[in-house]
Amino acid sequence: MQTVYLDNGATSFPKAPGVGEAMADYLLHNGANVNRGTYGKASAAAMTVLETRLRLKELFHFPGKEAEVILTPGHTYGLNQILLGFLGPGDHVIVSSMEHNAVMRPLMELQAHGVEFSRIPADRAGRTKAAELLPLIRENTKLVLVDHASNVSGTIFPLEETAELCHARGIPLAVDAAQTGGHRDVDFGALHLAALSVPGHKGLLGPQGIGALLLEEEFASRLRPLVTGGTGSASDSEIQPDYMPDRFESGTVNLPGAFGLHKSLGFILEQGIDKLKAHDEALTARFLDGVRGLPLRVAGPADPKQQVGVVSLDFTDGDNGEIAYRLEKDYGILTRCGLHCAPNAHRTLGTFPQGTVRFSFGYATTEDEIDYAVRAIRTLALEA
Ligand code: ALA
Repeated sequence: MQTVYLDNGATSFPKAPGVGEAMADYLLHNGANVNRGTYGKASAAAMTVLETRLRLKELFHFPGKEAEVILTPGHTYGLNQILLGFLGPGDHVIVSSMEHNAVMRPLMELQAHGVEFSRIPADRAGRTKAAELLPLIRENTKLVLVDHASNVSGTIFPLEETAELCHARGIPLAVDAAQTGGHRDVDFGALHLAALSVPGHKGLLGPQGIGALLLEEEFASRLRPLVTGGTGSASDSEIQPDYMPDRFESGTVNLPGAFGLHKSLGFILEQGIDKLKAHDEALTARFLDGVRGLPLRVAGPADPKQQVGVVSLDFTDGDNGEIAYRLEKDYGILTRCGLHCAPNAHRTLGTFPQGTVRFSFGYATTEDEIDYAVRAIRTLALEA
């Protein structure tokens, strides 16, 4: 039986060509730390880290300096850094209705310490109108943070219009690009973003345990570092350096991860976002066409122009968990079912508490794999 990996929303597989080799090569043949020793191997490793920042800067059209591209231990860390590092008692923040727990759980922690939040409403497909932000803005609104595309339904948030509204009012806008990084163009400069966090292991096709946090200069200066410690710089002082990226990069960066991410970013830049986006949209359209008319509900827009290649199905006549199990056992199709760490997204979509079976596509997913999955879904939906 073949294996069809349709869980790229959780983590991409396969990784970009050469990622595993680049990581192994670093571990086997370099292995040096950066910002510490001054010998040749350390400089070579530092050069790869620098190029990784430059590639991220290019991919996200980041107008700042490469030093303002922070390498994080992951996207959850990046989002926590934004929220916990910026907000304090008496502050108000606005988020979308589709947020992942990587945003909601830090927000709940903050709420216990006097931070208030509001959610921009969304319809049953997870769609939001940017203007619905306006009545939520208060005098103490310090930040708007939105999920660019839902990890449950793939629904794309109206980022451009929201960015205009925030920019006109001087409210910093931060973006969670977990499901759009590497799949859609995100233009940091044109959107006047304050911050963007992205994981390395999803659409960026790199390894787990590394992410990036891009910070606008003024916003960065107002952000308290979540973690402080050794940076290899200013070693005469016990005070955290205030310059970038050291201010937000204490301890040793995940260097095998950086080497893998460096490789995968090279692949993405070479392919180009337009090509990756066209592939993602074509697969999504094919999948959506294939499941139309079956006894199931697409929890989302069911429109490849309004979503990324993440499609959630709620099998009306069957048990979603049982169907996900059968997809793997009988067909070798790997999906993620349940609530996807995003309970309010499921409430919004009308799929709480039963959850959905989520199919998420990647650069290596083929049309044949989509057709195979559609045939399996048809069989299971009709026999349920
Ligand atoms: N947030 C990831 C997912 O949606 C892990 O599966």
